[in-house]
Amino acid sequence: MKAARIALRSAAPLAGASAGSSSGRLPQEVEQFSRFSPSPLSIKQLLDFGSTNGCERTSFAFLRQELPVRFANILKEIDLLPDKLLSTPSVKLVRSWYIQSLKELIEFHQKSPDDQKVLSDFIDTLIRVRNRHHDVVPTMAQGVIEYKDTFKVDPVTNQNIQYFLDRFYMSRISTRMLMNQHTLLFDDKSGSGHPRHIGSIDPCCDVVEVVNDAYESAKMLCDQYYLTSPELKLTQVNGKAPGEPISIVYVPSHLFHMLFELFKNSMRATVEFQEKSPTLSPVEVTVVLGKEDLAIKISDRGGGVPVRKIERLFSYMYSTAPRPNVDDSRNTPLAGFGYGLPISRLYAKYFQGDLNLYSICGYGTDAIIYLKALSTESIEKLPVFNKSASKHYQATSEADDWCVPSKDPKNMAKQSAAS
Ligand SMILES: Nc1ncnc2c1ncn2[C@@H]1O[C@H](COP(=O)(O)OP(=O)(O)OP(=O)(O)O)[C@@H](O)[C@H]1O
Ligand SMILES: [Mg+2]
Repeated sequence: MKAARIALRSAAPLAGASAGSSSGRLPQEVEQFSRFSPSPLSIKQLLDFGSTNGCERTSFAFLRQELPVRFANILKEIDLLPDKLLSTPSVKLVRSWYIQSLKELIEFHQKSPDDQKVLSDFIDTLIRVRNRHHDVVPTMAQGVIEYKDTFKVDPVTNQNIQYFLDRFYMSRISTRMLMNQHTLLFDDKSGSGHPRHIGSIDPCCDVVEVVNDAYESAKMLCDQYYLTSPELKLTQVNGKAPGEPISIVYVPSHLFHMLFELFKNSMRATVEFQEKSPTLSPVEVTVVLGKEDLAIKISDRGGGVPVRKIERLFSYMYSTAPRPNVDDSRNTPLAGFGYGLPISRLYAKYFQGDLNLYSICGYGTDAIIYLKALSTESIEKLPVFNKSASKHYQATSEADDWCVPSKDPKNMAKQSAAS
């Protein structure tokens, strides 16, 4: 398997890197595996693991190296977080999960892929690791909340945490993807999923079907909470094969996640903005397949967001919704941690797509998901720990090179009298 090639990186010490003083030094195994760069796979390569040529042993040999590499790379970045965040019980706990999982996985380096017992133990370990990491997102979010509540967060720290969490959650999406593929393909006990799917990938993912599913799920929540919900108006344009249904090679659960989040946001905004109106404007969805991109636009008349606030919407430190109870995070109605948009954008970016919001304050919002139309171009986008990454964590706040508008205009009369 070509993707199993590992790129070795220089292990030069990094300027600005702390030694993780709050939580102790990283074990030597982490240091060792952090010297390798992660190896991104294309959707096509992921499919190959499940094809007739692919085999469990190749996937095992790849994962026992690649998962520790991805864990170690992100652990090095965890250790560059501000000490006060790193020393919160939640972040310490998450860090310990990553170290533990890395250690369990590298035990398989001494074991033979030809032994059936080793292969089945490996599957058990992957399942244990996946379960251990189940609550990483709410636990990390809790750490950020504790930090934000206790200390005043300056703009530079805010930016660093944003930078880190985007990379941390992206790394998590990728490791979950790899672990899921292996268990779905090779664990006899995991039960057969959809017959067309290869692991979690659908080689013929019907985009409109996923749009409808996500709409129905969000509508159910919206009806429960507000006793009403906007209708769906859908238009599709297949620019590649006019008239044909639109399908791509993709992970339907990722697409569902993004659409569900965007529908929840649009529905909440529409119902709240049009509270006094006798009927609700529909949420309009346009699905277009072009030569390079598949685009899905979700337009609502939910009153929009001022331009000043747009950037904040993707921030992990900001949400207008009431804060959910951590233990209850899976039961929140239409808004939770405020992670809907940033995590959805990561899912879009994971296979080289994107997610953007265009809003007109006083009117409504267009959210657009872009995905690669060709599976050969859908390649994992992964963070790598290196000198440029560590530079981002250096707490230097450069002076702004744009004038700060003053509230009191200069007294020109006074100035000309003085000259
Ligand atoms: N379509 C929209 N119209 C108006 N405001 C929006 C829209 N989409 C998002 N927002 C604003 O952006 C904020 C952040 O959205 P996001 O989905 O990231 O978090 P949330 O909805 O607050 O919580 P969560 O999605 O985690 O349950 C929302 O709270 C809302 O104020
Ligand atoms: Mg949301």
